[in-house]
Amino acid sequence: MQSPDAVGMTHRTSPSMPVVRFREPADACKRVAAEIASLIRQRAAESRRCVLGLATGSTPIRVYRELIRMHREERLSFFNVVTFNLDEYYPIKPESAQSYHRFMSEHFFNHIDIIRSNVHLPKGTVELENVSGYCRDYEELILRSGGIDLQLLGIGRTGHVGFNEPGAKRDSRTRLVRLDTVTRNDAVKDFGDLERVPLLAITMGVETILQARRIRLLAFGEHKARIVQQAIENRISSALPATFLRGHRDVQYLVDYDAAQCLPPSFFGTPLQ
Ligand code: GLP
Repeated sequence: MQSPDAVGMTHRTSPSMPVVRFREPADACKRVAAEIASLIRQRAAESRRCVLGLATGSTPIRVYRELIRMHREERLSFFNVVTFNLDEYYPIKPESAQSYHRFMSEHFFNHIDIIRSNVHLPKGTVELENVSGYCRDYEELILRSGGIDLQLLGIGRTGHVGFNEPGAKRDSRTRLVRLDTVTRNDAVKDFGDLERVPLLAITMGVETILQARRIRLLAFGEHKARIVQQAIENRISSALPATFLRGHRDVQYLVDYDAAQCLPPSFFGTPLQ
């Protein structure tokens, strides 16, 4: 077996937030994919389903790619897997180029043997007056599926997880939210111009995320360094929703060296050669 040093991994376990640092984003993604695969296989061996909370954005794409590879080359089956995605723009049609429905199909679901009725994403087409009932049903469905075993997360530059923007409460549940200006500006790369970026989204709440049995947050690149440092070191509050992850019993940050650069050097101990 490859030793952790061989992939340039350094591990810090603070009382509030374990952070694992990797030389390359690909190594972090492989590590999470391996954990997910092992969970799926373990559950399959017990004839149980495995419930995954999934995320969009550029960060987790390589996790999906690695899981697809394992499906093709290592016979990893998703037959027993149930998924719940974190969020979706509102309003948006599922076939629209920027929708998370389309993103997930193209980057993951179209390439594996998951049962389509086991796939769940918040719908961006629900009538406004039905949204709150719809969000309650989404929560109910997660509970009825047995709860999320492992939640994959990215982090936005505002410190959002899912679309829980600054101001989101710790006890928030799936709901309609207003997107932060920073987040909308970051989405211009997908929508072409700011006018076209939706003002709203449906997102799982902070509490929904915290109820997952394991949480794995990925962050790569220099542009995530400041927010990663703040999420780990700032006071826990709604001003930076990712701070709420601290204190979860099984949470881990998996970051590359660039995203870890604002954490104090002592944080990771002696760098590995
Ligand atoms: C969007 C998603 C988040 C994601 C974030 C970061 O806002 N709703 O779930 O974490 O983007 O995206 P990226 O991974 O592309 O940096």
